[in-house]
Amino acid sequence: MDLQGKTIAITGAGRGLGRATALALAERGSNVALVDLDADSLGETARECRQFGVNANEYQADIAQESAVETTFNAIAEDFGALHGLINNAGITRDGLLVKAREGKVQKKLPLSDWQAVINVNLTGVFLCAREAAAQMIESGSEGVIVNISSISRHGNVGQSNYTAAKAGVAGMTVTWARELARYGIRVAAIAPGFINTPMVQSMRPEVLEKLVGSIPLRRLGNAEDIAGGVLFILENDYVNGRVLEIDGGLRL
Ligand code: CAA
Repeated sequence: MDLQGKTIAITGAGRGLGRATALALAERGSNVALVDLDADSLGETARECRQFGVNANEYQADIAQESAVETTFNAIAEDFGALHGLINNAGITRDGLLVKAREGKVQKKLPLSDWQAVINVNLTGVFLCAREAAAQMIESGSEGVIVNISSISRHGNVGQSNYTAAKAGVAGMTVTWARELARYGIRVAAIAPGFINTPMVQSMRPEVLEKLVGSIPLRRLGNAEDIAGGVLFILENDYVNGRVLEIDGGLRL
């Protein structure tokens, strides 16, 4: 897909991978529909995107809410016309061990609320956004690409039952949607980032993070721009479909 003049929606565009991807797309000449829960960070991403001379609209929405997602994608269609791409990026963490015990005594269990919060955003939110984006792409008859952001944690990561379940689900849905939507000219692929230098990873406990960085073959965190580059690759290469691209510095969990 030639990105010049195309309209791409990015969820979680306020910061981290979402912001870096929005900026990379704006630099390529794409108009961007920026979706995030946080209005302030969204405004900053939009301002930076507009410096590349493209249209950048802000949509404040909770992607875990069906009605909010429907309203947002209807507004994007009204504002931009055809939608050509979705970067399904928004995600949260609520890390915690399944069961934490000391000397045979259970001290803490992962609360259902922490499980559900992550599933709602990282799995259900991804489903809702892809569903609405695909419906619009089909009705407008335009070629389209959906890029889902999975994670290296989909293989299983201590302290991330909820996140692992959601990100493994995202990888699975990517294959399903690639098969279902190819007939409409829509490609679907995913990226599985490793540990990238974003606010999400920076919020890990320093000693846990330090140990982890030591186990990355490249001995450093990735940059958000490394992931944005992967998104551009998937969007621009018309034969990438139904696959998960791993960008993780060689780390194996
Ligand atoms: N591997 C093996 N054992 C581990 C472990 C690990 N990675 N992490 C913790 N443990 C063990 C500890 O050694 C400890 O064992 P002992 O009691 O024998 O000492 C036990 O589990 C309890 O650990 P904590 O004292 O750390 O327990 P806690 O309740 O304070 O914290 C935790 C638990 C929140 C899960 C914390 O360990 C943690 O933050 N882990 C990292 C989780 C992680 O990797 N998050 C990634 C966030 S970034 C992201 O998600 C982006 C992405 O896509 C990759």
